[in-house]
Amino acid sequence: MPDVIEQIDSLLAAARAELAAAAGEPHVEAARVKYLGKSGSLSSLRKGMGAVPPADRPKLGKLVTDAIAQLEALLEQTRTALGQRALQQDLEREKLDVTLPGRTRRRGHRHPVSRALDDIIEIFARLGFHVADGPEIEWDLYNFEKLGLPRDHPARDMQDTFYLETRLPPPPGSPPTRGAQEQLLLRTHTSPVQARTMLGQPPPVRIIAPGKVYRVDSDVTHTPMFHQVECLHVEKGLSMAHLRGTLDAFAKAFFGPEIKTRLRPSYFPFTEPSAEVDVSHALCGGKGCKICKGTGWLEVLGSGMVNPDVLSGVGYDPEQITGYAFGVGIDRLAMLRHGIDDLRLLFENDVRFLEQL
Ligand code: PHE
Repeated sequence: MPDVIEQIDSLLAAARAELAAAAGEPHVEAARVKYLGKSGSLSSLRKGMGAVPPADRPKLGKLVTDAIAQLEALLEQTRTALGQRALQQDLEREKLDVTLPGRTRRRGHRHPVSRALDDIIEIFARLGFHVADGPEIEWDLYNFEKLGLPRDHPARDMQDTFYLETRLPPPPGSPPTRGAQEQLLLRTHTSPVQARTMLGQPPPVRIIAPGKVYRVDSDVTHTPMFHQVECLHVEKGLSMAHLRGTLDAFAKAFFGPEIKTRLRPSYFPFTEPSAEVDVSHALCGGKGCKICKGTGWLEVLGSGMVNPDVLSGVGYDPEQITGYAFGVGIDRLAMLRHGIDDLRLLFENDVRFLEQL
């Protein structure tokens, strides 16, 4: 008997030591098999009960049962402790500092020029105009000839116009080529869309044509590429009053109801009479400031009644119909709206600048 008691004690002591050193579930399971498994040490003790004198059996049986219960409890404790330790380690590893600033999503927005263009299209859509399109690489025929720009007009000068070389034959009716190739060019204004549209359909015409235009020019108020919107309305019975009304409605819708417009006599070969249009300066309330050079007015577009020669040039009858047209710089409108004083800023796409708008 004392032998067996000692044996049980030493088994328990060994099991305790092993479990104390257990680093994970596999160790715990190995200990369980070793001490409590079918052929485990404590199980063997129970099996060896036959060799014990019958009088001692109940006592010994109880000792073994107690030892098994103790060991089972110990296994359970070890498992719980190991589980807790693992959880602690996980928490440690995945620690979150909720006081750190979050990852912000940077939101972009539309470019001021695109926004101005969207607004312009919407305003004119409400006035019954639809959008027409034309190529940026244009023939002299549509950019100049059909618009009554005489052959020696300074706008045709190499200084203003980007000419392109081409082997393509120019469309019929093109002016004869002098020396260097001067037939294909980057359009210098959106007005060629006037000619293209009228050549392609009978009146009435009521279009706007937004797009990129190009001129050999570069300083604070000029860039080699800029944006224009052309407006053309041809129909029976249109007069200068319709031009004024449309311009005024547009300026008020774009800049605000307090804005005033005024027309100054001007000259364009494709309109007669022609007028330069000023809007009262919204930023200084028309009082006069640096941007409007103290006048309270800003020049924003060129306009006029479509020249009868242009109408007959596209096959319309100027005795029957009249029209008005204007071309406005979109970039210029965006600049005025945001109080930007350098046109180039609009095209450098420096986000530090764009984010301010
Ligand atoms: N095309 C002219 C320009 O670029 C503007 C304009 C358009 C003037 C239509 C009159 C009529 O300056």
